[in-house]
Amino acid sequence: MVTVMDLYKNSELTIGEQQAQGVVGWKSPSNIALIKYWGKHGRQLPLNPSISFTLSQAYTQTIIEYKLKKKSSNKIDIDFYFEGLKKPAFARRIVKYFEELKEVFPFLTQLSFEINSDNSFPHSSGIASSASSMSSLALCLCSIERDIFNKEMTTKEFLRKASYVARLGSGSASRSLYPKIALWGDTNGLEGSSDLFSMPMKNILHDVFIKFHDDILIVSKKAKSISSSDGHAIMSDHRFKDGRILQANKRLHILLKALKKGDLEKFGRIVEEEALTLHSLMMSSNPSYLLMEPNTLQIIIEIQEFRKNTNIPVYFSLDAGPNVHVLYPDSVETEVKDFIKSKLLKYCKDREYIKDYMGSGPKELDF
Ligand code: DP6
Repeated sequence: MVTVMDLYKNSELTIGEQQAQGVVGWKSPSNIALIKYWGKHGRQLPLNPSISFTLSQAYTQTIIEYKLKKKSSNKIDIDFYFEGLKKPAFARRIVKYFEELKEVFPFLTQLSFEINSDNSFPHSSGIASSASSMSSLALCLCSIERDIFNKEMTTKEFLRKASYVARLGSGSASRSLYPKIALWGDTNGLEGSSDLFSMPMKNILHDVFIKFHDDILIVSKKAKSISSSDGHAIMSDHRFKDGRILQANKRLHILLKALKKGDLEKFGRIVEEEALTLHSLMMSSNPSYLLMEPNTLQIIIEIQEFRKNTNIPVYFSLDAGPNVHVLYPDSVETEVKDFIKSKLLKYCKDREYIKDYMGSGPKELDF
């Protein structure tokens, strides 16, 4: 059994030349948080636990070719291509990430890497890609370690390590590792929960939540005026910080019960309150900022009215941006898709939306 300390410091071995060449690849999905991670401390540790549905159609595919460096040096050596093009800004972020991972993967300085990454969704769609991109990258690194050192790990240990490594790149990425639903963060009364990595939760799900839909309505494709990292940083001295931590923990327990019981109404209430709380925290921070747009509010109002008039269980969520996630069970798919087409697409940029749903987690590519 691999302990947390083993996960942290690892691979003290030196690479033998014969194994030090290969190619690995992973397709990893994005996720939508139901209880939001907002605010962090220390080394990528969350202020509160969060839980998310793993998506399916919004994913990143990353392929890494690696070989032994010609000359040994302490520098990270990568070539990074995003959708076939060199992207120096992304490459710099990855070099920084690899630098921070040297103590987990000392082999990172012994190899050179060519990294190719592609998103299934348009880069300019305003969809947050750090969860899918960082989780696919973390999985590739764990596969390289497994292949080079013939490391024996169970799937559970492998995914937990990948979640740990993904978290260091982007907090929400730690949750993309598991099918259907994942929880990240120390949670009172939940054995195995940790701030260091996420855990799978699909066993708690009532049938009503299986194949849940999340249609992502693209309200704006503009780059965000503030990055998630800066948003998290502002939480450190937010006047509502302590209250927010208590609230997120309390809501998480209510939501877990609703997910177990199949209580859609309670689920929807908590999920919508969380989305609005996330944006309220941004609006009440110092400096204050606003990421919703008029059409975000129009869509929210339409969803609330439609639900009231029809009793159809359809709910909204928001990320740190203006796009709206429309959440509903499979049993009402036809009605909700018709509603989206007839009433909501007019609020979307170029009438665009992504039809997504709960997915089965990352997939390793064969070479
Ligand atoms: C609003 O995971 O993007 O989507 O850890 O700085 O990379 P970093 O932040 P990130 O934050 C996601 C915030 C959120 C809520 C959530 O996914 O829980």
